[in-house]
Amino acid sequence: MFFGELADRYGRVARDLRVSLTDRCNLRCSYCMPADGLQWLPTEDTLTDDEVVRLLGVAVTRLGVTRIRFTGGEPLMRKGLERIVAVAAALAGPNGRPELALTTNGLGLDRRADGLRRAGLDRVNISLDSLDPARYARLSRRDRLPDVLAGIEAAERAGLLPVKINAVVMRDVNEGDIVPLTEFCLRHGYQLRFIEQMPLGPSGEWSRDDMVTATEILAALAGAFDLAPAVEPRGAAPAELWRIEARGDRPAGSVGVIASVTHPFCGACDRTRLTADGQIRNCLFAREESDLRAILRGGGSDDDLAEAWSVAQWGKSRAHGIDEAGFVQPARTMSAIGG
Ligand code: 5AD
Ligand code: SF4
Repeated sequence: MFFGELADRYGRVARDLRVSLTDRCNLRCSYCMPADGLQWLPTEDTLTDDEVVRLLGVAVTRLGVTRIRFTGGEPLMRKGLERIVAVAAALAGPNGRPELALTTNGLGLDRRADGLRRAGLDRVNISLDSLDPARYARLSRRDRLPDVLAGIEAAERAGLLPVKINAVVMRDVNEGDIVPLTEFCLRHGYQLRFIEQMPLGPSGEWSRDDMVTATEILAALAGAFDLAPAVEPRGAAPAELWRIEARGDRPAGSVGVIASVTHPFCGACDRTRLTADGQIRNCLFAREESDLRAILRGGGSDDDLAEAWSVAQWGKSRAHGIDEAGFVQPARTMSAIGG
């Protein structure tokens, strides 16, 4: 039997699996998708629930994966999500049951948070780039802010804790939201992470000069809050954490800044990715993928799948090189890779 680890040539071992369950989404965030004209994956190319579940089993029981994050597109658009979560929660690897998280835009989460919690989901990351309804509608191209806020509240009530909020900062779009988003998350006890925008949207739309850097985000925060570096070590977690002192009736808390471009965490990256059509990507920015779907549908064994996955991971690049000359953006947008 093939048992092993998802190691690579640079000494990293992947324990964190990101599974994209669909490339579809009910929003159109400009950093992730074009307004229209994106070609969806054909249904027959998308893994079935049973195929997804089988690959999760291989990852956890044979390849040392300890954390699974479901992403999309928008993973709540996948009907079988609760069932997939329930099966994943029943998996037992050498390190016990995997920790299960979901990255979502929050739409419809108000109706599904309880069920997901019961199925065994541990926590959620919800994308929220603005608290201003008009600005939210502009950057996600849909007027849905109230639904997202309802989803966030429901996640908290259901015990999907800690609730984490992701915000991508875009120049001349939502820089003005840095302080209000931080206030909002501190008051509710949500863990906020600001993320530098990466070149993963419609091709040709990202520009290094336009990107709001982590340094700029921190400067905006320092202008409004008393900041101190948090003591927790960064480890494989990409966010640099800052402590914010209490002020008035507003409690103390922390805020994270993810410098994906200007201070990449590739050296500590412990991720492997499975796309909705059954391809392994060893990096967000990989130029190549490995086709597990062909092995699955060609009658391959769990041994064959585990071995192909570990070979795929072995080829992981040292770093994404976004900030270097000659960088080439991947052909898929973020919506088809998974966050
Ligand atoms: N740059 C940085 N983060 C992104 N995300 C999506 N696209 C990008 C991008 N181009 C993040 C969003 C979302 C998650 C799915 O991935 O924060 O929460
Ligand atoms: Fe949808 Fe998330 Fe992409 Fe926004 S970032 S379009 S919510 S998949």
